[in-house]
Amino acid sequence: MLKSHHCGALRRDHVGEHVSLAGWVHRRRDHGNLIFIDLRDRFGITQLVFNPDHSADAHQIASQLRNEYVIRALGLVRARPEGMRNADMATGDVEVVIDQVEILNEAREPVFHISRESDVDEALRLRYRYLDLRRPRMQRNLVLRHKVTRFMREYLSERDFLEIETPILIKSTPEGARDYVVPSRLHPGKFYALPQSPQQLKQLLMVSGFERYFQIARCFRDEDQRADRQPEFTQLDLEMSFVEREDVLQLLEGLLTELVPAVSDKRVLQSPFPRFTHTEALALYGSDKPDIRYGMLLTDLSDLVADSGFRVFQQTIEAGGQVKAIRAPGCADYTRRQIEELTELAKEHGAQGLVTIQMRDKGPHSSIARFLAEAEMTAILERMGAETGDLLLIVADEAPVVAQVLGQLRLVMGKRLELADDDVLAFAWITDFPLLEWNVDEERFEAVHHPFTAPFDEDLELLESDPGLVRAKAYDIVANGYEIGGGSIRIHRREVQSRLFAAIGMTDEETRAQFGHLLEAFEYGAPPHGGIAAGLARLVMLLAGEPNIREVMAFPKTQSAVDLMTDAPSPVSARQLDELHIRIQD
Ligand code: AMO
Repeated sequence: MLKSHHCGALRRDHVGEHVSLAGWVHRRRDHGNLIFIDLRDRFGITQLVFNPDHSADAHQIASQLRNEYVIRALGLVRARPEGMRNADMATGDVEVVIDQVEILNEAREPVFHISRESDVDEALRLRYRYLDLRRPRMQRNLVLRHKVTRFMREYLSERDFLEIETPILIKSTPEGARDYVVPSRLHPGKFYALPQSPQQLKQLLMVSGFERYFQIARCFRDEDQRADRQPEFTQLDLEMSFVEREDVLQLLEGLLTELVPAVSDKRVLQSPFPRFTHTEALALYGSDKPDIRYGMLLTDLSDLVADSGFRVFQQTIEAGGQVKAIRAPGCADYTRRQIEELTELAKEHGAQGLVTIQMRDKGPHSSIARFLAEAEMTAILERMGAETGDLLLIVADEAPVVAQVLGQLRLVMGKRLELADDDVLAFAWITDFPLLEWNVDEERFEAVHHPFTAPFDEDLELLESDPGLVRAKAYDIVANGYEIGGGSIRIHRREVQSRLFAAIGMTDEETRAQFGHLLEAFEYGAPPHGGIAAGLARLVMLLAGEPNIREVMAFPKTQSAVDLMTDAPSPVSARQLDELHIRIQD
């Protein structure tokens, strides 16, 4: 080793020892006679002192050092003089008086400050990611990420899970996104697909009898990017045999409950995790990934306004729609402009309009007040628990629109009013998803999750008579408004599988071409099984308090799926294309 200690190690106990340190020049202060260098490595910073009376050679070299030079220095640990100690630094009690120093490598002036947590344009950070990764924020986040995966590996290993790798070059495993495909040189015109998840492979491992599998698995999905999405990402993927839904939920809940305090200073808000059916989540929060750190629940006013003097309410209810509202405390004095902004937002999310009631000192103020009978207004205010100072936001529309609009307004108002506690992770389970949903364009039902998700036993009959009503043994885990993971109990019986394929309009031939390997395997004795996958980066993002998953990935891509550092994707040579039997269309 070029170093005897790392740069975060030295304490008072080391005073009097000769040490060798190596790292990057973090900061240099030249006091003419004395030169101070803060030397940095992954573990911390140590102050080096160069005194020409002690070593003229070392002092001479130190005067040439610039930020980010890589050096090795040998010297004697001594206590810092009284009044010079730095309590904010782990090594702040000591310094090393250097008698020998060697420049291991010079460095260009970095394009942004490594030593300061200043805001740097993200494109620049990604272009020079290796420099960005030197900075404390990314160092912290990647250390945290390591702790998380290590915890997961240990937790699951202790519970008889086996970590098994599955291939990256496979046949398409659809999860609802577009595949990334890889052309085959040996088989002209044929392609591998990168896995959107190891879904089918982990089910095959259950057929093989491994019983408890997990993997920190890489997944690839060609889909529109968002703050919590990347084209390639990592899942904690797991699958269990001879289990029911409850077993899978308990397993992951146990893991997360112990993980959070073990690796971070966040708290789990509520344990056991609250559970909502899909229908309840939409009704209460207007979202299937609710942020339950605060209330502001959607309140149904439909029964109160069925005969409303305000025609829009009445007509909406008549047409089978809903009238619902949320209550934002302290926003009664919103200006007309602010109300218009909220109305625009509501419209962007599909609403025809937004009705507001402002609870002013002299009474409720609303553009629809003159249409409402006094009793109706009173009933609404009472149902909402409205108090002076409140702003009520009311939407009338079909149920899904109401959920979407009020769900979004709730998030916006929650953020403005700072209702969410950032020190907690508010996990919740969402259960009882519908199994199928109607695809309007293709005029057929399709699986909400994937076509191996088991229906509720008691809903089986509906598969043929009313497929839209069949509930799935599927579950999501959400936290702070993000979908952290999802899974299900799988279909393991051929007969049920055939009925499901029929319900989504797949012919025998199509199912054989797409899923033949899995269906065949199921004929060789498949155990009942189920599992779940959690997005690792989303979880670490919440634990780190970061606003997007790029902050917890070493080398992420941009929103447009570009790697700014390596410049991928990029063209390949004509020869490579020839070998792959590929011609590029203009
Ligand atoms: P699902 O598709 O719900 O389930 O994915 C599981 C979790 O993976 C994370 N995730 C993503 N993270 C970052 N970028 C993305 N593009 C991205 N897409 C998904 C989310 C999500 O909740 N095979 C099933 C699991 C199962 O049934 O066991 C699956 O992949 O946090």
